[in-house]
Amino acid sequence: MGHFNIAIDGPAGAGKSTIAKLAASRLGFVYVDTGAMYRTMALYFLRLGIKAEDEKAVEAACRDVDVTIRYEDGAQQVILNGENVSGLIRTEEVGNMASAVSVYMPVRTKLVELQQRLAREADVIMDGRDIGTCVLPDAPVKIYLTASVEVRAMRRCRELQEKGIPCCLEDIETDIADRDYRDMHREHSPLKQAEDAVIIDSSRMTIQEVVERIIFEARERGLEA
Ligand code: DC
Repeated sequence: MGHFNIAIDGPAGAGKSTIAKLAASRLGFVYVDTGAMYRTMALYFLRLGIKAEDEKAVEAACRDVDVTIRYEDGAQQVILNGENVSGLIRTEEVGNMASAVSVYMPVRTKLVELQQRLAREADVIMDGRDIGTCVLPDAPVKIYLTASVEVRAMRRCRELQEKGIPCCLEDIETDIADRDYRDMHREHSPLKQAEDAVIIDSSRMTIQEVVERIIFEARERGLEA
């Protein structure tokens, strides 16, 4: 029996991970955060002092890197060459590097393989940029979750402040707009809505409303849960 998979794509800060996590726990699905995998690769390149523009060096470094995931109390942990780096990947620096190096095919190939394997092994809710279009093109439920740049920047700022990290709203807005542009205009697997995706603009919705909507869509498409 195949597994029931839910693909969620959308730009940075749209609330994908918060919402996917909640929906996964309601449905008893495994949550797969693919952004964390790109961030892990990015951390590896940063540690090696590789510049994002240096495609050759990125490609060469891809040969020796091992990225895997495991779950601890239901939470996804990312493992870089045997080291759990989950606590080190949530910075703006790593996020921007992830966006910059995710344009390279060797980076994507490695991670897409891992993602597809996970979706074969369990019912997953997977979020990212190319899940509905490339990673799980046959997923019965595809969601494109978005929100205005202003709302997304506000949310990200609040998140950082809650962690005690100072932030400037204007800088975050610029970062998000740059990241959107890069993610949407790259050559390989750009961020775009799958033709059969349901578009949800969460700018004026609560987290709970979005979760309910996704569960509704899944049931409409045959999920018995
Ligand atoms: O979702 P996030 O902000 O953690 O993702 C970081 C970057 O990784 C994002 O800007 C682009 C890249 N990414 C990608 O190219 N494909 C994915 N499926 C997930 C993330």
